[in-house]
Amino acid sequence: MTLEAFRKELKEGIPSVLPAIQDYDTSLNHAPKRKEILSTEEKKLALKNALRYFPVEQHTVLAPEFAEEMKNYGRIYMLRFKPKHKMYARNITDYPGESLQAKSIMLMIQNNLDHAIAQHPDELITYGGNGAVFQNWAQYRLCMQYLTEMTDEQTLTIYSGHPMGLYPSHKDAPRVIVTNGMVIPNYSKPDDLEKLNALGVSQYGQMTAGSYMYIGPQGIVHGTTITLLNGGRKISKNGEGLAGKLFVTAGLGGMSGAQPKAGNIAGCISVTAEVNTKATYTRHSQGWVDEVITNLDDLCARVNLAKKNKEVVSIAYQGNIVDVWEKFDQENVYIDLGSDQTSLHNPWAGGYYPVGISLDEANEMMASNPDLFKEKIQETLRRHVAAVNKHTAKGTYFFDYGNAFLLEASRAGADIMAEDGINFRYASYVQDIMGPMCFDYGFGPFRWVCATAKAEDLEQTDRIACEVLEEIMKVSPVEIQQQMADNIRWIKGAQENKLVVGSQARILYADAEGRIKIAAAFNKAIKEGLIGPVVLGRDHHDVSGTDSPYRETSNIYDGSRYTADMAIQNVIGDSFRGATWVSIHNGGGVGWGEVINGGFGMLLDGTDDTDRRLRSMLFWDVNNGISRRSWARNDEAVFAIKRAMATEPLLKVTIPNYADDDLINTIY
Ligand SMILES: NC(=O)c1ccc[n+]([C@@H]2O[C@H](COP(=O)([O-])OP(=O)(O)OC[C@H]3O[C@@H](n4cnc5c(N)ncnc54)[C@H](O)[C@@H]3O)[C@@H](O)[C@H]2O)c1
Repeated sequence: MTLEAFRKELKEGIPSVLPAIQDYDTSLNHAPKRKEILSTEEKKLALKNALRYFPVEQHTVLAPEFAEEMKNYGRIYMLRFKPKHKMYARNITDYPGESLQAKSIMLMIQNNLDHAIAQHPDELITYGGNGAVFQNWAQYRLCMQYLTEMTDEQTLTIYSGHPMGLYPSHKDAPRVIVTNGMVIPNYSKPDDLEKLNALGVSQYGQMTAGSYMYIGPQGIVHGTTITLLNGGRKISKNGEGLAGKLFVTAGLGGMSGAQPKAGNIAGCISVTAEVNTKATYTRHSQGWVDEVITNLDDLCARVNLAKKNKEVVSIAYQGNIVDVWEKFDQENVYIDLGSDQTSLHNPWAGGYYPVGISLDEANEMMASNPDLFKEKIQETLRRHVAAVNKHTAKGTYFFDYGNAFLLEASRAGADIMAEDGINFRYASYVQDIMGPMCFDYGFGPFRWVCATAKAEDLEQTDRIACEVLEEIMKVSPVEIQQQMADNIRWIKGAQENKLVVGSQARILYADAEGRIKIAAAFNKAIKEGLIGPVVLGRDHHDVSGTDSPYRETSNIYDGSRYTADMAIQNVIGDSFRGATWVSIHNGGGVGWGEVINGGFGMLLDGTDDTDRRLRSMLFWDVNNGISRRSWARNDEAVFAIKRAMATEPLLKVTIPNYADDDLINTIY
C-alpha cells in the first residue's frame, strides 16, 4: 500500500461504502471463543450497540453478520472493517494530521496492534489473553480519524476503546484521555466484565495494551532480569551468582515470553513450560528461548547436563507446567528459583490451562462446559501448589510473579496459606524484591520509543541515557548504588541483547532524577537535530501508577493497600502537568476488580515547552508514589522522599512518625 493510500485510509474513518468481507486469517493466533454470557434480550442490546457506528441503510447486512460473530467468538469484532494497511509503528512523519502529538499516539496504537507484537491481532488484543486496545475495528477506525483531524487545542476522550469525541482544550492539556474497564466497584466481578465486554460497553485494557504503551516483551525482560538478579542475591549463600542454578517457570506468551531471555541475561539455566505450540515456536523463532524440548525425560537429562556444565541456557518445555514441577520432584532435579507467569488474572477464559487435557480440548470445554472447565482449573492449581510445596520443602525459593497465582490458588483451595491463615506461604516478588529494592526508591520501568522508527536513533538514545546514568552514579548515595549499577549494565548490553520487537523502543529502570535528566537530554538532542522525536512512557506497573494489593502495593503494610487513591491522583496529576496522553484502568495485570492502574505517554519534540512539561510531570509522576510509600512507613521511601525534598524547595510532604510497638502493646 502506498503512503498516500495509508494516509487516506486513516483519514477516512468508518468507510461510507461497506468494505468486502475478509478471509479469516488462520496464520494468526486468535483469541479463544468467549463464553456465552448474554441473555437473548442482552444479545439484542449488544447488536444495537454495535450498529450505532453505522448508517441505518447498512444495518440489514451488518446485523446478521455481527450476530454470527457473537455466536462464533462470543464478541462482535466487526472483522469486515479491519483496515487494509499493515499494522506497525511507522516513522511519525508518515502519519497525516494537524498535531504532532496526535501522530505520536497513532504510532503507538499501531505498535500495540503490530502482528509481531499483538497476541491476538484480529481481536485487537495486545497481551495477557484479554488486554485490548479497542473492542472492535470500528472503534479503531474512528479513533484514528479523530487523531488525524485534531489540533493541539483539542482533547479526545476514549471510553474503553470507544472514542467519545473531540473536545476543546488547550496546548498544555493531554491530547487523549483513556479510561478502561472503569465500572462501579460492586459490578466489577469477572463475570460482570464478560457481560459488559460482550455488550460492547467496557473492555479490559491490561496495563499497556489499552494505554498504547506496550513495547513487546522487552518491557518485562528488564524487570524480570532485575527480579532474577535480586532473587539470586537473596538465595546466594556465599556471594556466588546464578551460574549453574535452575529457574523454573511457565508461560511464553506476551509478557511471560521474556522469562527465558531474562534468565540468560541474569546468567542461569531456565526451564519455561508452555502449553501453546504457537507461543512456544514464536518465541523460539524470535531467539527469546534457546531450545525446545517436548519430552519430560529428555528435559531432565538436558537440565542435569546444563547444571553439570554450569551452562547459561534457556529451555522451553512444550507442555503443562504442573508436569514439570511433578517430574522434577520425582527425579530429584533441584530447583533454585521458581515462579509462574501463566495468565492467572484470567483463569476461566484461557489464561491458565488444565493438566492432562490437550489445548484444543480445553479451549472447547471452556466454551461448551465452563463449570467443568473451572473444576479442572482448580484441580490443576491444587496439584500445581502441592508440587511446588514439595520443592520449597527442599529449599527452592518460590515467588509470585504478579499473575495472581497465589490468589487464585487460594481460591481453588490449594495448600497455599501460611500458618497464620491470613498471609500466603510465599511472598510476591514486590514484597520481597521489587518493592523495597526498586519502587520505594522511585526506580521503575521508564521507557521510550524513537518516533522516527530508526535504529540509529535508538542507538543514540541508549548512549545518551548511559552517559546520564554514569554521571548521576558518581554522586549517588550508597543506598541506590546497586540499582544504578544494574541499570547501567542493562543499558550497556541492550544493543547486543537485540531486544527490539516492533517499534524502536527501550526500557530502562530509573528513579525520578534519572528519568528527568534522561528525558531532558533527549529533548536537547532533538532540538539540536541529533535525533528525531521520542515518545516517553512507562509501564503502569510502577512506583506510583498502580494500586494492586497483591502486587505493586503488596509491600504497603499500613492497611491502605486496598485503597486506590494513589493511582487516581497519579493520572490526574500527570494530566495537568503536561502528559500527552493519560490512562486509568480497572484490572491491569492481576484481573478485573483487583487493581486500579494508570499511566501516561509524553511526546518529546525538542521544544522549550516540552522541557518545562517533562520536568514538572516526571517529578510528580514518581514522587507521588514515593510519598504514599513513605507515609506507609517504608524506610526506603522515607529516605527517598526526604532526598527529593532536599532538591526541590517547592516539595513539602507529610512525613510519618513511628509509634513504639512496646507502647502499642501496653494498650492492646
Ligand atoms: N510481573 C510482572 O511484571 C507482570 C507484567 C506483566 C504481566 N504480568 C502477568 O503475567 C501473566 C502473563 O502475562 P502474558 O502477557 O505473558 O500472558 P499470555 O496469556 O500472553 O501468556 C501466558 C502463557 O501461559 C501459557 N499457559 C497457561 N497455562 C499454562 C500451563 N498450565 N502450563 C504451561 N503454560 C501455560 C499460555 O498458553 C500463554 O501462552 C498475566 O497474568 C499478566 O498479568 C506480570
